[in-house]
Amino acid sequence: MVETLTPTLNRSWMIFFSTHKTLLTALFITFFFTVLYLQRDAGTGVLIFRREFSSRKLPKLRPVAYNLTDFGGVGDGVILNTAAFERAVMAISKLGKKGGGQLNVPPGNWVTAPFNLTSHMTLFLAEGAVVIGYDNEKYWPLMPPLPSYGYGREHPGPRYGSLIHGQNLKDVVITGHNGTIDGRGRTWWKKYRQKLLNHTRGPLVQIMWSSDIVISNITLRDSPFWTIHPYDCKNVTIRHLTILAPITGAPNTDGIDPDSCEDMVIEDCYISVGDDGVAIKSGWDQYGIAYGRPSKNILIRNLVVRSMVSAGISIGSEMSGGVSNVTVENLHVWNSRRAVRIKTAPGRGGYVRHITYRNLTFDNVRVGIVIKTDYNEHPDKEFDPKAVPVLEDINYISIHGERVRVPVRIHGSEDIPVRNVTFRDMSIGITYKKKHIFQCSFVEGRVVGSVFPAPCENLDLYDERGNLVKKSASHNISDIDYDF
Ligand SMILES: *[C@@H]1O[C@H](CO)[C@@H](O)[C@H](O)[C@H]1NC(C)=O
Ligand SMILES: *[C@@H]1O[C@H](CO)[C@@H](O)[C@H](O)[C@H]1NC(C)=O
Ligand SMILES: *[C@@H]1O[C@H](CO)[C@@H](O)[C@H](O)[C@H]1NC(C)=O
Ligand SMILES: *[C@@H]1O[C@H](CO)[C@@H](O)[C@H](O)[C@H]1NC(C)=O
Ligand SMILES: *[C@@H]1O[C@H](CO)[C@@H](O)[C@H](O)[C@H]1NC(C)=O
Ligand SMILES: *[C@@H]1O[C@H](CO)[C@@H](O)[C@H](O)[C@H]1NC(C)=O
Ligand SMILES: *[C@@H]1O[C@H](CO)[C@@H](O)[C@H](O)[C@H]1NC(C)=O
Ligand SMILES: *[C@@H]1O[C@H](CO)[C@@H](O)[C@H](O)[C@H]1NC(C)=O
Ligand SMILES: *[C@@H]1O[C@H](CO)[C@@H](O)[C@H](O)[C@H]1NC(C)=O
Ligand SMILES: *[C@@H]1O[C@H](CO)[C@@H](O)[C@H](O)[C@H]1NC(C)=O
Repeated sequence: MVETLTPTLNRSWMIFFSTHKTLLTALFITFFFTVLYLQRDAGTGVLIFRREFSSRKLPKLRPVAYNLTDFGGVGDGVILNTAAFERAVMAISKLGKKGGGQLNVPPGNWVTAPFNLTSHMTLFLAEGAVVIGYDNEKYWPLMPPLPSYGYGREHPGPRYGSLIHGQNLKDVVITGHNGTIDGRGRTWWKKYRQKLLNHTRGPLVQIMWSSDIVISNITLRDSPFWTIHPYDCKNVTIRHLTILAPITGAPNTDGIDPDSCEDMVIEDCYISVGDDGVAIKSGWDQYGIAYGRPSKNILIRNLVVRSMVSAGISIGSEMSGGVSNVTVENLHVWNSRRAVRIKTAPGRGGYVRHITYRNLTFDNVRVGIVIKTDYNEHPDKEFDPKAVPVLEDINYISIHGERVRVPVRIHGSEDIPVRNVTFRDMSIGITYKKKHIFQCSFVEGRVVGSVFPAPCENLDLYDERGNLVKKSASHNISDIDYDF
């Protein structure tokens, strides 16, 4: 008995002990990881941040400041705050003559359907404040197509308005302590792909026919469509923004699209999106020509941009009202398909002129500098193919980079030649030591001083002092190879 009992006892004790040991170990591991998890959260998220959020005092930028909660706002990530935003905007609209009003959005998740801003208003997003676009299209009002597009852009007829919208305003500021506007784009991209939408998707922020606009120090993410769309505006400043969307599978999530705007600055932004980082536009074919409002006097500087689908900075393809006097400087484009692109087509009309790119850095970019003149995407068949755009006076100065496949592809055509292009001080590290990677056709212009890789033969060569070294044999040589 003893002999048999002891081992039995021993065994059961051992089983008892080992299960408890397992249990204790499991408990310990759970405890350990919980502590780790909480520690991690304390560093980046919930716990300690909550205290930091409320302790970071919000500046008072207008004579009157409201809190969204004053109007019944609830930041629980579920309740709709559309009415609270509308009541707040209504209250601020009465303060115009007294210097306007500020609406503070405290930390929390504030779901809302689209709402309109008013003049002399500052929307201030506290650290940890997330304004979330309600992703049910039934709550998104339809608006007429933009006059210079004559078309929703994706569908004829009306289009969805933007989540945060403004028309005919003056003196509007959207800023904060890096609070976020989240467009819940995933729902929209999916429905778009499945062709479930009957109207063009809405931008995240669209300000139309307005002046003196500032958008700064916030994060915008996952827009249903273009992220920021200033339309026919004057005096717009955009700075210190982070604009994010997945780099693939997020169709048309351009970062910032100045459209028929003048006197605009875009600076110190980080943009990584599913389409163009910035795309300067001015209307589409016959509608844009008739509307006739150019984009001009635009300064873009100190941007870091990533675009796997399109380009870091684009002009066009909708440019029918004309684009002129644009400077792009101190731009860093990384892991992207293209760095800077001008795109147009017969039918657009208009012009792109007086464009200067200075101090650009390309890092791991497939094609660096691109001009494309056959971007044949049209609103309808009524466009006039004889309305050819003029492309001229374009400067590329101090262009550097590494891991670039095709540094230059300027594809002018007989109908749309590219005139008066200047390259000065360029050195781009290339991934392939192949000829014809500096591709040109129907381009007239010059290379001044040292330019690497060797330029195409369409261009005249000048030395540093501006003396002609070698005149181009022909501007019309075509050496474009899209396979490469
Ligand atoms: C806004 O109201 C909430 C709730 O009353 C409060 O916790 C928060 O501190 C207020 N924030 C500001 C910026 O006034
Ligand atoms: C914003 O204002 C415009 C112009 O009045 C209007 O068409 C649109 O429906 C308004 N949007 C909302 C969400 O009220
Ligand atoms: C703002 O928030 C974004 C997204 O969380 C972050 O990537 C960025 O670094 C923040 N910017 C600043 C200045 O803290
Ligand atoms: C699109 O139109 C179809 C047919 O009129 C309709 O059944 C469907 O509900 C509409 N979808 C949306 C998202 O409005
Ligand atoms: C441009 O807008 C800013 C911000 O509202 C304002 O301070 C400035 O005076 C405006 N500039 C001009 C020339 O109107
Ligand atoms: C805006 O962001 C920049 C860069 O992060 C920072 O230097 C500046 O102080 C911020 N402005 C405000 C009002 O927080
Ligand atoms: C070109 O745009 C800049 C702003 O980027 C402006 O200062 C300048 O006056 C403009 N030049 C002309 C000729 O309009
Ligand atoms: C060129 O741009 C980079 C940012 O891409 C910046 O760090 C550098 O200071 C700029 N150089 C000049 C001379 O402005
Ligand atoms: C070429 O463009 C530059 C500006 O980029 C301008 O100063 C110059 O006058 C233009 N030359 C011709 C011949 O049009
Ligand atoms: C080059 O093409 C243009 C049309 O784009 C034409 O006007 C010009 O005469 C051509 N030049 C040569 C040398 O073939």
